[in-house]
Amino acid sequence: MNPVDYLRISLVDRCNFRCQYCMPEGADIQYALQQNLLTQPELITLLREVFIPVGFTRFRLTGGEPLVHPGVVEIVRTIAQFPATQDLSMTTNGFLLAGLAQDLHNAGLRRVNISLDSLDPDVFNQIIGNRGRSRWQQVWDGIQTAYQVGFNPLKLNVVVIPGVNDQEVLDLAALSIDREWHVRFIEFMPIGNDDLFQNRGWVSSEELRQQIRAKWGLTEGQVRGNGPADVFRIPNAKGTLGFISQMSECFCDRCNRMRLSADGWLRPCLLNETGQIDLKTGLRSGIPLEHLRQQVSELLLLKPEINYKQRDSGTTGAYSRTMSQIGG
Ligand code: GTP
Ligand code: 5AD
Ligand code: SF4
Repeated sequence: MNPVDYLRISLVDRCNFRCQYCMPEGADIQYALQQNLLTQPELITLLREVFIPVGFTRFRLTGGEPLVHPGVVEIVRTIAQFPATQDLSMTTNGFLLAGLAQDLHNAGLRRVNISLDSLDPDVFNQIIGNRGRSRWQQVWDGIQTAYQVGFNPLKLNVVVIPGVNDQEVLDLAALSIDREWHVRFIEFMPIGNDDLFQNRGWVSSEELRQQIRAKWGLTEGQVRGNGPADVFRIPNAKGTLGFISQMSECFCDRCNRMRLSADGWLRPCLLNETGQIDLKTGLRSGIPLEHLRQQVSELLLLKPEINYKQRDSGTTGAYSRTMSQIGG
């Protein structure tokens, strides 16, 4: 059993994109009211006084979109300076990255995972639900800036959706050849996006690997990370290819993470709401921090039983939150 020491921290539940797979059009998303979001001092107190003492050492900032949080650079600086922090990273859509990359790096962030689902600005626009000017170029500039600033490893996340971007898999994989970019293909999951999932279905990592193998061959690869990706490399490429296969393979038995939502709920599993703890209400009602630590420790003990194992229905069950609200 893996130790659970990786916390994914959702800084905000809002996002400046509206990706079809993550926040489907028409979805009735109930955002948390401002007063229900953890404040910066509350978040830092929870990390310093609760999560670090019970053993968390690896942190990822997610959203919605973490870069829309006005305090993001300061939060990075504080977490990077905790002596217990062994790894700090961020998952972002990259739209605001060009302007923030240097400040984030100066504050102590050393690696980022950026979503890039298409190289075609029109397809990209369609995926992110934007009817205005294409935002592709700004995301691309964000990726280039992050690379120049020195983020390493720099990972690009691609959710593969049949008939939407699956014809670009080889072009996206090729991004790993000349630069040290680590491209990850994520199997599309049904989570709050039933219509799109029913209409499009999903492609398995193995099918993608076959395409890639046929063109270039594939060898084993390695890259720093805490996630469930299986890592390969196109022979002689500078970067790697990762495959996150939550549909075709169950990696719950090696699960090492929990999730803290922007409104202060601690969630033991992405796909299962069992056991959640409302830490914000606990904190605000003045429960001693020792009790909060106790609650989190108890949840850590329960986690192996909560881990999502029942995939027999072929769906991921019923959720009250979308992926954007949970933070991916
Ligand atoms: P690294 O530390 O760089 O390996 O990051 P990561 O892969 O943990 O983080 P990232 O936010 O880039 O995750 C990419 C995608 O992997 C997510 O958006 C999900 O689709 C999937 N994923 C991450 N964590 C889990 C998980 O706990 N369960 C499942 N089912 N999928 C996950
Ligand atoms: N299936 C797979 N991955 C998803 N993400 C969001 N929604 C889904 C989904 N339905 C991923 C995005 C991003 C991360 C935050 O979550 O690609 O990398
Ligand atoms: Fe862990 Fe739940 Fe993700 Fe499985 S589905 S890897 S148990 S968070």
